[in-house]
Amino acid sequence: MSQPETIPVKPEIAANALVDRARYDDMARRAAENPEAFWAEESKRITWMTPPTRIKNVTFTGNVSIKWFEDGVLNASANCLDRHLATRGDQVAIIWEGDDPGEQKHVTYRELHAEVCRMANVLKSLGVRKGDRVTVYMPMIVEAAVAILACARIGAVHSVVFGGFSPDSLANRIQDCDSSILITADEGRRGGRKVPLKANVDAAAKSCPMLKKVVVVKATGGQVDMQDGRDVWYHEAAATMPLDCPPEPMNAEDPLFILYTSGSTGKPKGVLHTTGGYMVWASFTHQYVFDYHDGEVYWCTADVGWVTGHTYIVYGPLANGATTLMFEGIPNYPDTSRFWQVVDKHKVNIFYTAPTAIRALMRDGEGPVKKTSRASLRVLGSVGEPINPEAWLWYYRVVGDQRCPIVDTWWQTETGGILISALPGAIDQKPGSATLPLPGVKPVLVDGDGNVLEGATEGNLCLADSWPGQMRTVYGDHERFIQTYFSTFRGFYFSGDGARRDEDGYYWITGRVDDVINVSGHRMGTAEVESALVAHAKVAEAAVVGFPHDIKGQGIYAYVTLVAGEEPTEELRKELVMWVRKEIGPIAAPDAIQWAPGLPKTRSGKIMRRILRKIAANETDSLGDTSTLADPAVVDDLVRNRMA
Ligand code: WTA
Repeated sequence: MSQPETIPVKPEIAANALVDRARYDDMARRAAENPEAFWAEESKRITWMTPPTRIKNVTFTGNVSIKWFEDGVLNASANCLDRHLATRGDQVAIIWEGDDPGEQKHVTYRELHAEVCRMANVLKSLGVRKGDRVTVYMPMIVEAAVAILACARIGAVHSVVFGGFSPDSLANRIQDCDSSILITADEGRRGGRKVPLKANVDAAAKSCPMLKKVVVVKATGGQVDMQDGRDVWYHEAAATMPLDCPPEPMNAEDPLFILYTSGSTGKPKGVLHTTGGYMVWASFTHQYVFDYHDGEVYWCTADVGWVTGHTYIVYGPLANGATTLMFEGIPNYPDTSRFWQVVDKHKVNIFYTAPTAIRALMRDGEGPVKKTSRASLRVLGSVGEPINPEAWLWYYRVVGDQRCPIVDTWWQTETGGILISALPGAIDQKPGSATLPLPGVKPVLVDGDGNVLEGATEGNLCLADSWPGQMRTVYGDHERFIQTYFSTFRGFYFSGDGARRDEDGYYWITGRVDDVINVSGHRMGTAEVESALVAHAKVAEAAVVGFPHDIKGQGIYAYVTLVAGEEPTEELRKELVMWVRKEIGPIAAPDAIQWAPGLPKTRSGKIMRRILRKIAANETDSLGDTSTLADPAVVDDLVRNRMA
């Protein structure tokens, strides 16, 4: 494909946009020149019980300390609910669209406020206090948002675990944050199938002695076992609860939530976000990146179990008084028109999804899209992984009819919200580029030695200074926080991504430069998949790498060495795939398993992943230097037996 064109901002969009180019330039300049003044002003988008006077207090070196608005007092749920009651109590806050196209719900701000108070009172009655960790393991139903906001209301720290994770993965997360209470549902529903959430909780609970109470929302009415003294039906407990619960005053730096995410080593880490800075960032980015105008219907297709769901289904849109759509289903059920049918049904104006969904839908051609109207659409967004120019242009031409600007938003669980993105009315787009940093964001590209690179170049993507939505620590392990993000390049936050910057200053994210794989926009640590594989009795050793995958972006490729005497059969291959699914969850299932009699190791025993990545990607004519290997013959065998 030829060098993708630039798509200029459309005058009719710029004319009505909250931010046009002149305003963007002005904001970026002011945020750079005087961050304190800029963020003091922006903090006013939040309703404070005590407004902050100290704005920024950050050091990226030594013990690393990040504080924003540190003497401010607020409550996140009050910002999402109470403050809207007077002006938009009867406006729809959440449109819920079921997995079954016949099911939907409209919940107004007043109703959502009442339901959140009720759930908050249930949690209180079960002994939950400010600072306690509450695990939320829910399907995409309104009660998932209610649970999140109920925790925030009473100052409990929520730890949402994606409903697709296995009992083991759930147990690890409950244990890590020592959570004594969990909110779940009987079952989830996705693409016409049931997900046994409560049964998974029962299995996880076996290794979680700290878990004392399980609140169960009746979602499908499926059969579940309730354990006496531990399990509580939400509807029974809620029936007697008052519909009012005063929001707990929280310091800006009090924890709001923990969200576990994969890294290159060890177990997933608990990314900790605090209240004030996160809320300012969620509101600021949601409003400007999507150019959200009052009254619009906004739909982010993520699951609340990921950070995108936290910031751009719940906190950002609700803080801004938006109507946010929550979708229980999947893009291809009942058929591949579903997204666009939902857009037409609810007159969605802003639509935010992942490249993997776009690529999957592209396979079916234009037909399923073009038979819908999509006339309500105004802005399209992309998140989770680099979007290839082909998918970008298809999204633009076919879905958006060349009318809707696309915002390709780069960010991470750790960043709390979007850092690099186009703004619909301000930034000319280039298909495949996340474009420019938001005001107040200072990306830098550095080489392997930590030298800052100037101009058009490529390097490791770091942030030179803090922004309010930045994570504050790894829960319970500040040392790991420093090691992971601040030790590779001194004085910078290191994202783990690589990027190119072109002559216009536009950023092109090239993907992870560490041992993290991005599968369909979901982060997976290679170490996690490896440790699941070696936990199988027949596996002696395993090495896992990512490889290019047409739909998923990256697939999981595993090299497996069997215990001596075990036969490498097709059956065992299938068994190992199922094993990893069961150990971690379906998203971790390897796409390819290659039997490896030996792995390429240096003389000191370190696996040379660079070589394994090349073989998996079928780039075997550029393996590079293999002379440092203990046994170079291993490589020949792996190349010969590569999985097609
Ligand atoms: C990748 C999801 C390119 C990146 C919000 C990052 C992207 C990781 C983009 C974070 C994008 C996310 N272009 N790559 N627009 N958005 N990524 O923590 O590698 O689940 O480091 O947060 O996804 O994934 P996470």
